Amino acid sequence: MSEKVLLDVSDRIATLTVNNPDKRNAMDQETRTALRDRLDDIDANDDIGVVVLRGKGDSYIAGGDIEAFAEFDRVDALEYLTNYGQGLYNDVADLTKPTIAAIDGYAFGGGLEVSLACDLRVATPDATVGLPEVGLGILPGGGGTQRLAHVAGAGVAKDLIFTGRAVDAEEAATLGIVNRVYEPDEFDDSVRELAETIAANAPLALRLAKESINRGLDDEGGLDFERIACAFLFGTADQQEGAEAFLEKRDPAFEGR
Ligand code: COA
Repeated sequence: MSEKVLLDVSDRIATLTVNNPDKRNAMDQETRTALRDRLDDIDANDDIGVVVLRGKGDSYIAGGDIEAFAEFDRVDALEYLTNYGQGLYNDVADLTKPTIAAIDGYAFGGGLEVSLACDLRVATPDATVGLPEVGLGILPGGGGTQRLAHVAGAGVAKDLIFTGRAVDAEEAATLGIVNRVYEPDEFDDSVRELAETIAANAPLALRLAKESINRGLDDEGGLDFERIACAFLFGTADQQEGAEAFLEKRDPAFEGR
């Protein structure tokens, strides 16, 4: 099993840690495959009651691997979004156990999208969240347009997605994106306590409560449009420019093509 996603299980709480700190835990293909494998194991394990998602080091998850995106054409993008972008985050959302995204550091792009697919989001004051995709010539194609609107409302989703701006933990909590902010020195204990509180409740009741809430939010049409629209953007001149500009550490010059 790849070490890009670590799994620790103790007292009915599983902690998944994305482990690629040199790249700020940006998720490459190896990481995504590892995450899916770990999710399958967790879902099948009745001894696990709650799942916590974290990032190694002082970054949470800086999004998808922009270097790989630079090589994608539309066909690659559609396959990626179906199986791993949206597909993987849908698996997170559909996990039968409650999930908590424990955000310390950067949750950008796919890092925020995977957190929005979790049931709860908690953060340290140092957390920064955002969906910067339009600055890369694409859109949040991992469920972000739908789930951010569900979690925080369409107005907040349009503000964050159209501007691409990052917000700190305090603002994220005010906007309803983050449920709770814990002080850094109490973060691990507070996350654990929250997970334990949830895990002490009846597993079947939790599972069906989660499914009831999620079914009420189901909007397959929105997710499908988002996925196809994002795939369409790959291979445009602006998408190539956006990825190249990031890798060359300069501002992009977009042309609307
Ligand atoms: N994809 C690929 N590589 C990434 C990455 C991503 N999403 N995020 C960070 N990295 C890489 C950087 O290219 C850099 O690689 P290098 O050491 O080979 O130059 C390394 O991780 C460290 O990143 P750096 O930008 O130097 O760190 P920082 O602490 O100054 O800034 C971020 C951290 C998260 C603010 C910044 O890396 C960033 O904006 N990342 C992109 C976030 C994003 O747009 N995500 C959405 C993708 S759709």
